[in-house]
Order: sequence, then C-alpha cells, then structure tokens
Amino acid sequence: MFRWHVWVLAALFHLHLSILRGVGADKVGGCRFPRLVEATVDQLQAGLQKGCFDSVDLAYVARIDQVDSVFGTVLEINPHALSIARQLDRERHQGRIRGPLHGLPVLIKDMIGTNDEMETAAGSWALVGSKVSADSTVAAKLRENGLIILGKTSLSEWANFRSLNSSNGWSGRGDNTYGAYYPDQDPNGSSSGSAVATDLGLIPFALGTETAGSILLPGDRNNVVGIKPTVGLTSRHMVIPISERQDTVGPLARTVKDAAMLLQAFAGQDPKDNYTLASPYGESLPDYLAACKLSGLQGKRIGIPRNVIEYLGPAGAPITSAFETAVSVISRAGATIVDNANFTAYSSFYDSLNPAIVEAADFTTNIATYLSNLERNPNNIRSLEEIRFFTQHSPLEEYPSRDTGIWDQVIALGLNNTSPAFWPLYQETLYFGEEGGLLGALSRNKLDAVILPTLVASDIPAIIGTPVITVPLGAYPDGTPVEYNSRGDLVQRAPGIPFGISFLGPKWSEEQLIGMAYAFEQRTLVRNKLRRYLEARTELEDVM
Ligand SMILES: *[C@@H]1O[C@H](CO)[C@@H](O)[C@H](O)[C@H]1NC(C)=O
Ligand SMILES: *[C@@H]1O[C@H](CO)[C@@H](O)[C@H](O)[C@H]1NC(C)=O
Ligand SMILES: *[C@@H]1O[C@H](CO)[C@@H](O)[C@H](O)[C@H]1NC(C)=O
Ligand SMILES: *[C@@H]1O[C@H](CO)[C@@H](O)[C@H](O)[C@H]1NC(C)=O
Ligand SMILES: *[C@@H]1O[C@H](CO)[C@@H](O)[C@H](O)[C@H]1NC(C)=O
Repeated sequence: MFRWHVWVLAALFHLHLSILRGVGADKVGGCRFPRLVEATVDQLQAGLQKGCFDSVDLAYVARIDQVDSVFGTVLEINPHALSIARQLDRERHQGRIRGPLHGLPVLIKDMIGTNDEMETAAGSWALVGSKVSADSTVAAKLRENGLIILGKTSLSEWANFRSLNSSNGWSGRGDNTYGAYYPDQDPNGSSSGSAVATDLGLIPFALGTETAGSILLPGDRNNVVGIKPTVGLTSRHMVIPISERQDTVGPLARTVKDAAMLLQAFAGQDPKDNYTLASPYGESLPDYLAACKLSGLQGKRIGIPRNVIEYLGPAGAPITSAFETAVSVISRAGATIVDNANFTAYSSFYDSLNPAIVEAADFTTNIATYLSNLERNPNNIRSLEEIRFFTQHSPLEEYPSRDTGIWDQVIALGLNNTSPAFWPLYQETLYFGEEGGLLGALSRNKLDAVILPTLVASDIPAIIGTPVITVPLGAYPDGTPVEYNSRGDLVQRAPGIPFGISFLGPKWSEEQLIGMAYAFEQRTLVRNKLRRYLEARTELEDVM
C-alpha cells in the first residue's frame, strides 16, 4: 500500500514536471516543444509555422556550450549565425519560405568550403587562415534553401588521410571528439563531430564527407542515419579533396526522413564538378522525401554477402545476432532474401594494395589543384610535400606522436593520377567492386540491394562510387569486454556502444535505398532505445 502511494505520487509528480517543461505535452496555444535530442524536421517546422519559436531560438548554442567540453564536436560557430537566422525569420513573417528546411540550423564538416569568416581547414593548422574563393556548391545550396550554417564540425584530421597512429576524431585544430555511449568512446570517423553533434541533438542534422567509410562508420558508432551518396550526386567543388573518384558529401541525421530532406537540399548537378554531369537526373532530382514509404521493402530482392560478414570475426557476434533479427524484419516487410549473394573477389580485395594506391594517386593531384585554387594561402603551401613539412614542424600538429605515415607512403609511391601506370591499376581495382563485388552480386542474383552490418559495408562501395545508407541496428550488450583503439586513448568496443545496418545499391539508387531504409527504421526504431551516459539538458523553452 505504502509503496503504491509513493509510486503514484512519483508518477503524478513526473507528469506535472513534463507538463511544466512541455515535454510531450501540448502547451498553451497548441505549442509543442520537442525534446531536442529527438526533434525531427517535421516537429521543428510545425513549431516555426505556428510561431511557437523562431529560427533565432533554433540557432541555439547553449547545448553545444553545455556538453562540448566533454564531446568536442564543434570547431567553431559561425559569427553571423544569429543575423542569418533573423533574416530568415523576417522572410518567414513576410510569407517567403525558401523550402521545407527554411530556418533550420545545420553544422558542416571542416572539409566543406565556406566563403565567410569561418575557416575551411580539414582540422589542420596548415590551412588555418586560408580562404576559398567562393562557397562550396553544397554550402551555397544550403544557404539558398534557407538553412543556417551554424558552424564547422570536428573530424579526424585530413579526413583520416594523414597518420597511421592517430585517433579517430582528432585534429590539430580541435583536439578529440568522443561518442556519447561510453566514457572516452571512439566516435570513429572521419565525420566524427557531424555524427556526434547530430546524435546529441546539438543540431537537427549535419553534413559529412566520405571517401571510404567517413560518413557510414561514424553514423554506425553514434546511433544516427548516414547517407553516402553516389559519387557525382553531390558536388565536391571547393570541398577539400582526397580522391575525385571516391569523395562524396552526404547527410547525417536522426531519422531517414530528415536525412532524405537534407540530401534533397544540396544534391544536384554542378558544372564546376564534372562528375555530377554523369547524373541521369538533369535539373530535377527524384523526390527523396516521397521515397520514405512504409512499403519501401515490399517486393524487393535483397542479398546477403555472407563471405563479407565473416570478416567481423568472433568479436562481431552481437552485431551478427542483431543482423539476423533485422533480416527477419526485412523479410516480414515483404522483401525476398537471397542468402550467400557473395562478393566473389572480397578476399583478393582485402589483400590488395591497389585501392590504397588509387587514393594516393588521386590525392597527390587533387590536393595540389585545391591548393592552387585558394584565394588566400597564408603558409604558401602548394603540394603534399609542403603540407607534410608544415605538419612535421608545427607543435600543434603533435608530430611525431601522431605521424604522417600515410603521406610518407603516398610520397614514396611517386604516382599521381596522370601517371601512365595509374589507369591500368585503377581498372584492376574496379573489378573488386564491379564483377567481383557489389555489381556482380546484384546482377547474378537479380537484386535490388544488398544488406550488411555497416562495419563491413563501406569499403567496396568506396571503390566504385556507389551509394549506401546506414540505419541504427543495436548496441553491444552488457558484459562486452572493453577494448581500446591501437593508440590506447579511445574505447572502441564496450557495453552500450551502437552499431548500424547498411543498404547498398547500384549508382543513383538513393531513392530506392531511402525507401528500404525508411521501411526498416519505422519497423524497428532502435535509435530511441539506446542510452547515452551523458546528454545536454537545455531544451528549447530554456533558450527562448
Ligand atoms: C573505426 O575506424 C577504424 C579506422 O580508423 C577502423 O579500422 C575500425 O574498424 C572502425 N571500427 C570500429 C569498431 O571502431
Ligand atoms: C573532368 O574535367 C577534367 C579536367 O578539368 C578532365 O580531365 C576529365 O576528363 C573530366 N571528366 C569527365 C568525366 O568529364
Ligand atoms: C558464400 O559465402 C559463405 C561464407 O563464406 C559460404 O559458406 C558460401 O558457400 C558462399 N556461397 C556461395 C554461393 O559462394
Ligand atoms: C604528376 O606526374 C607527372 C609525371 O608523371 C608530373 O609531370 C606532374 O607534375 C605531376 N603532377 C602532380 C600534381 O604531382
Ligand atoms: C607514432 O609513430 C611515430 C613514428 O612514425 C612514433 O615516433 C610515435 O611514437 C608513434 N606514437 C604512438 C603514440 O605510438
């Protein structure tokens, strides 16, 4: 009896608090304040339309200030964010809405050029103070669509293309980024800050870049959705490059729908990046929001490359078991599962140096071009050799504790993408992704898509520039032994750390993949079930 009383009082008290704080409750005037760690675009737009809050309120930095000394997700805040938000509020009040994301804030990775007071530096002091001659095309499109670029996110320096013994999420500019599910959690990378800031609700969504796993892996580890678009769907103009054949800009968001809406806002052809001219869509993209249908898996043929999943090894047991549950969800959603749709050349891929050589040759050429296009280049750095020299002599770059091992190998190789040896080597590499990899599995088995645990999903699509979407799948269970990265400064595996599942398809299949990912997400809603060890407490009604 006594216990029952306490329980009822506690429940009433909790309800009372919830009403006071507006959590899940309608407030006076029909306003609803979503919890920011879960807020969706639909909820935020509904609040803006009703006048419950405005864009100036949404451009909050209070949550970043509250937790970023622990998580290190943001390198700098746009000093003009508030005046941009005010302008967008004025436009809304005058009835001018630029698009479905009008007035929402977004963070972008430090690889993505902005011609404003913010740096574009790949996290490196070598580029601090440099200036691009124009906004990157993707940043310009965000602005045209009424998004507020709130700041630049942290990353693994140079998108993880510098060192053989650094840590995911570390950059000279920014120190380390950590995930929120275990103290000192490895956020993976290289779009680490974009993924963690989105997970924590410091921002509705963010842009990352991927060359080989840099959106998908931090998406996987931080319980968010990540879309790695087809190379050429999104422009790389004025984005710091690694490889023109592999680089792509993509969204990280808390839901498939939000990721689809953000992708819609910055994808599309750009004469300044001729890979985008290969797009079949011309001026009009598919409607990625309309692709978000519960029936997205109905009638699809989905393959499972078992021989790739084997590479997870025994430590991957919790992932494979969650994956098997996912397979039955996908099957119940109306898809036909085709097992053993293997990537036949996967073991030769795994042992081959060619994919790394292609990236190396592209980087040598592509970074020199990027540097030559800078409007201001304070350290007068023109080549990879000069980047390495600067890095090895700047104390802030923590050399030699963090080496320049990747650059050392690239320079020793002495190859660039105009060298005669490059083309045949590139053609050999493509085989691992085409007939010997994803494309062979798709065509032999007449598949619409392939599914894989995200941890093993990014390497083959990287080679051939095909799209992938990762969706939250589960987390390591209690009792998982705590395991550190090789540097010993980040926890790579521990109870509660999330992982995801990926949907892979041929080039330009984003519309279908989004449909499948949405149909899976809505049947599982894993994201809301996982628990962070620390969260930001400030809510919208506290910052208004
Ligand atoms: C994270 O990133 C590293 C590369 O930095 C990779 O080798 C590793 O497998 C990834 N996964 C996990 C579980 O951290
Ligand atoms: C893109 O332009 C570069 C030169 O700017 C050229 O070398 C390359 O062949 C072009 N690629 C395509 C796909 O048109
Ligand atoms: C696919 O790979 C699995 C795991 O290595 C293997 O058991 C199976 O025989 C393979 N199937 C085919 C058709 O190659
Ligand atoms: C690429 O290599 C060729 C020689 O094969 C050389 O002439 C050219 O300067 C190199 N370009 C870059 C950007 O390194
Ligand atoms: C990283 O590698 C360099 C040599 O390349 C070495 O001097 C340094 O001690 C290494 N750092 C760590 C933490 O292993």
